[in-house]
Amino acid sequence: MITNAPTLDDITVSGGGDLREIAACLRKYGAAVLPGYIEPDQLTRLSAEWDKLRAARNDGNPAIRRVGGDVADYAALDRTAGTKADFPAIEAVFDNDRVRSLVREVVGFPCMLNSEIYATYDVGADRAIADAHFDKTWNLKFMVYLEDIMESGKGAFGVHPGSMGEARRRFREWFDGICRDGAVDVGTDEFYSMPNERLPNNLAPFVEILAPRGSLIIFNTDVYHSGSYLNAGCERRILRAHTYPGERLLGIGDKMPRNSRHYERGEKWEKTGKGFSRFSKEGLGEWGEKMRLRRLSAQASIKSKGVALMNFIRRCLYIPRRVVARLVRR
Ligand SMILES: [Fe+2]
Repeated sequence: MITNAPTLDDITVSGGGDLREIAACLRKYGAAVLPGYIEPDQLTRLSAEWDKLRAARNDGNPAIRRVGGDVADYAALDRTAGTKADFPAIEAVFDNDRVRSLVREVVGFPCMLNSEIYATYDVGADRAIADAHFDKTWNLKFMVYLEDIMESGKGAFGVHPGSMGEARRRFREWFDGICRDGAVDVGTDEFYSMPNERLPNNLAPFVEILAPRGSLIIFNTDVYHSGSYLNAGCERRILRAHTYPGERLLGIGDKMPRNSRHYERGEKWEKTGKGFSRFSKEGLGEWGEKMRLRRLSAQASIKSKGVALMNFIRRCLYIPRRVVARLVRR
């Protein structure tokens, strides 16, 4: 039994959201809630852009893709693909000086600042929207409730406050067990074996974030989080933005190095308050690791080209050798 467990009040920053308070909340609990943060007019515009984004999810627009499957039917906007003029409210909310200041502290630059925006639409089926987990790829998320979620059964987002340390311990144990040359290959079966969905039993109790429309929730994806129960007959609409460390999203074929923010996952900032800098010890370490992996992959490529060349020469020599062998036999 955990006494004095953190509550929704503890992770709530009221009064317009002072940046220092938000940062303090994120450092301690991994999440910060700003109730009713978005003004009503702006929220109306955001809702209209949610509609626009969702309506375009099957149009083949390279900046907007459908993220689907059996469970979800969401739309994802790639903000790096020149969409600023089409979604001005999304731009204003997810990319401004305050967001940049916070991202600079928590994630550090270079980063993909809210490069992905998800318009999520969930339809109730008398079950949870998503079970508790930490994300495989570390990032900072900004989530806006487009409608009131003031009671259980309406699919509120929620977290186990302060659970980042346990997530990192599990992540690193898994990483250290399978890494080769100090890195893990992204998108492989091994990568998907990451135990990010097995809920430890020593976490602080789940806090369901019941909040009015226009509320903003910021969270570090190492905090165990989930989408709670959504009753049949209910719907949930949310806008969610993702900020990843680095200059591009990690995808299949990429490597996740040990000496990177994907491995550190914001821990240093939480413990010391010192942010990531390209010129800090961590920044230079990350850069050095990137160069080392690039060199290793170039060496591997040269080696495989060498093998291909040798095979080609062998094939070229094969026929003359057979002809000579026949002539000799005669
Ligand atoms: Fe997640």
